[in-house]
Amino acid sequence: MTRLFACLLISLLGYALPTVTSAEDTHMTDPRTSLGMTPVERAEFLSEMRKMLGSIQGILQGISTEDRKMIAEFATQSGNRMARATPDSLRNRLPQAFKDIGGPTHLMFEELVVRAETDDMGDLLKHTTDIMGQCMSCHSQFRAD
Ligand code: HEC
Repeated sequence: MTRLFACLLISLLGYALPTVTSAEDTHMTDPRTSLGMTPVERAEFLSEMRKMLGSIQGILQGISTEDRKMIAEFATQSGNRMARATPDSLRNRLPQAFKDIGGPTHLMFEELVVRAETDDMGDLLKHTTDIMGQCMSCHSQFRAD
C-alpha cells in the first residue's frame, strides 16, 4: 500500500515539476505589475537602470572621499536629463503610479547636484539614502516586461 502511494506520488511529481519551473509560472508567482514593454524598450530601460546604480555608486564614493564635484557629476547623470530620455511612445503607456515614483526620483538627483555644493557629507548621505528608498519602492511594485 505504502509502495503504491509512493509510486503515485512520484508519477504525480513528474507531471507537476515541469510546470513549476516554466516561465509562465514565474509570472504567475511574481505579484509586481508588468509595464508592458517590448523587448527593445526593456533593454533600453534596463540600461538606464544600470546607469542609476552607477550614479549611486559614484555618489557614495564621492561622499566617502568628500569630493563634491564627483557627487554632482554622478547625480547629474540620473537627473532630469535621464527623465527626458524616455521615448514618448513608452512614457504615454506607463502607469501613473510608476510616473509618481519615477519623476520625483530624477528631481531628487537634481536636488543632490545643488546640495552637493554646500551641504555637509552626513546630510548628503541622508539624501542619497532617501533616493534609494525610491528605488526600493518602485522595484517592489513593477517589473519591466
Ligand atoms: C519608477 C520606478 C523605478 C525606480 C524609481 C527605480 N527603478 Fe530600477 N528598475 C525598475 C524596474 C521596473 C526594473 C525591472 C525589474 C524587473 O523587471 O524585474 C528595474 C531594474 C533595475 C536594475 C536591474 C537592471 C538590469 O540590467 O537588469 C537596476 C540595477 C536598477 N533597477 C537600479 C535602480 C536604482 C539604483 C534606482 C534608484 C536610484 C532605481 N533602479 C530606481 C524600476 C525603477
